[in-house]
Amino acid sequence: MAVLNIVVGENTPILREKASPVEQISANISKLVQDMFETMRSAQGIGLAAPQVGVSNRIIAIDINDYHPEIPPIALINPVITRAEGEELGEEGCLSLPGYRGIVRRAMDVTVKGLLLNTDEVEFEASGLMARVLQHEIDHLDGVLFIDRLILEDQELLETQPERIKRTNSK
Ligand code: NI
Repeated sequence: MAVLNIVVGENTPILREKASPVEQISANISKLVQDMFETMRSAQGIGLAAPQVGVSNRIIAIDINDYHPEIPPIALINPVITRAEGEELGEEGCLSLPGYRGIVRRAMDVTVKGLLLNTDEVEFEASGLMARVLQHEIDHLDGVLFIDRLILEDQELLETQPERIKRTNSK
């Protein structure tokens, strides 16, 4: 395994492109995923998308063990959000934007579909932090950074009425 260089900068082209689907889960893809986990842990991140290590493919790696030890680390190939419900404000940062933090409005509950490294297709539900990290990482695959989603009103809401930051929309 190897620690890869993390691409930084809000205007760096590879961070702003739509990444390509993985067509075949080759040994190279498996190695890339292992390296992504090592890179992410080395940088003390909880999620990483392949474009952040210079590969414009639809691959994400997530490990929120420090916050939710009951949720195992996962790598997803060609992930898609198939359901999103509720909304929640929360603070985010990004390994590609060192020094930036911001409040981002995300869906509270999502269903995500994708492939595991062993080519099994999985579909699962996630909420709270796991849902937030999934949305943040999948955004990366479409060239979207969290700073694109900052809403001043949300920042003010968090500071003045923190009790309102968690709420669910009924659909
Ligand atoms: Ni990020």
